[in-house]
Amino acid sequence: MVSERLRAKLNEQIQKEFYSAYLYLSMEAYFLSQNLDGFANWFHIQAQEERDHAMLIFDYLNRVGAKIELGAIEAPPTDFASPEEVLQKTVEHERLVTRSIYDLFDLASEEKDHKTVMFLQWFVNEQVEEEENAEKNLASFRFVKDDPKGILLLDREMAARVYTPITSTNSQQ
Ligand code: FEO
Repeated sequence: MVSERLRAKLNEQIQKEFYSAYLYLSMEAYFLSQNLDGFANWFHIQAQEERDHAMLIFDYLNRVGAKIELGAIEAPPTDFASPEEVLQKTVEHERLVTRSIYDLFDLASEEKDHKTVMFLQWFVNEQVEEEENAEKNLASFRFVKDDPKGILLLDREMAARVYTPITSTNSQQ
């Protein structure tokens, strides 16, 4: 079991992860519209990973016998001024998600809910990677943004990303 407060917060986190997937799908759509298919691929895979994050929490709630309650997912922004704005927003969004995971971790720690602390440890580590990737993408783009050839090369690099399903918080990254 988990406390009612923690159960509610974990359910909210499912919603936030699905929102992240939705946001990244919207960003994928933007890159497709700009003919930057490699960037679009990167965001497509990012959206898949966000759904995996949501499902890990979904499965955890089920395993500890806590009620799963799915909330409404708000619409993401659909208009972006430039690739740089998208990449900047991705960094900002991942920082927000990290804050949210830390709040969950703090609550589980305060409640001495050790199993949930252990479960959330994976997400704490995952957020290091999420922020790092988002920051690298932004930095790389800023290096080449005035050079169309550089953008095309970066787009090719982004096209190489492949999806590996995340099925367990025991899996090592
Ligand atoms: Fe689910 Fe991008 O953090």
